[in-house]
Amino acid sequence: MIEIHNLYKKFGSQEVLRGVELNIERSSTHAIIGRSGCGKSVLLKHIIGLLQPDRGDIFIGGVNIVGIGEKEKKDIRLKISMVFQESALFDFLNVEENVGFVLQRYFPWDRKEIKERVRESLEMVGLYHIEKKYPKELSGGMKKRVAIARAIAFRPRVILYDEPTAGIDPIGADVINSLIVRLHDQLAITSVVVSHDLENVRKVADTISMMLGGRIIYSGRKDDLSLCHDERVKQFVSGSRQGPISAQEV
Ligand SMILES: Nc1ncnc2c1ncn2[C@@H]1O[C@H](COP(=O)(O)OP(=O)(O)OP(=O)(O)O)[C@@H](O)[C@H]1O
Ligand SMILES: [Mg+2]
Repeated sequence: MIEIHNLYKKFGSQEVLRGVELNIERSSTHAIIGRSGCGKSVLLKHIIGLLQPDRGDIFIGGVNIVGIGEKEKKDIRLKISMVFQESALFDFLNVEENVGFVLQRYFPWDRKEIKERVRESLEMVGLYHIEKKYPKELSGGMKKRVAIARAIAFRPRVILYDEPTAGIDPIGADVINSLIVRLHDQLAITSVVVSHDLENVRKVADTISMMLGGRIIYSGRKDDLSLCHDERVKQFVSGSRQGPISAQEV
């Protein structure tokens, strides 16, 4: 579903992506792990078309999205959805307007249809009767769930979650984890979960890639990760079990 070849991206003199190679199967749940600052969010923003690479190709369902025109870009954007690291809800819109935002802009639906789809999407994430509330009235965990409802409202083929459990207590994180699994099953969606928290991604992913130094240094089945002999992977795996990720450069 997603194929990335030789992807490079620099900001000024900082090389963030240095030849990323990545393959994500249709209908799988794939996690991308790596230390804070290694470029995970930057990679996701390339997949959704918010950033353009300096070099390389990104195929979504067989179509190379690098350098395509605005019209094709819009078609691709309606196939892929992203739950941003900070939820990124619009503060000036209520929950209903936030969740229905893309539907209202890009779908020829009437108000009643949009309202119904918004309600359905909120129910899917376990939220009821909060349509008229504003983001500032919600807890961090609720905001995350509203952001997920917004991402699934137009029923994309692919959903990208950027640090979905960050900043949420362990029970709240488990609620989000079960949601990711349930939505994947219910909507037959391809899910990409980006996180530096290996314990949480292990609960949802089938396959895992690890990013380091602007490249993918491991890609494989979740259960094979702990069998990997690469010292850099081993350090990340054991480090994440013991607590915070080591600040030492690997
Ligand atoms: N728009 C931008 N302009 C300049 N530098 C950027 C931009 N976006 C990201 N960077 C830099 O790219 C690097 C990778 O950032 P990114 O947000 O992808 O990290 P991350 O792996 O998602 O980290 P975290 O786990 O903390 O979310 C950082 O050094 C960051 O400062
Ligand atoms: Mg990030």
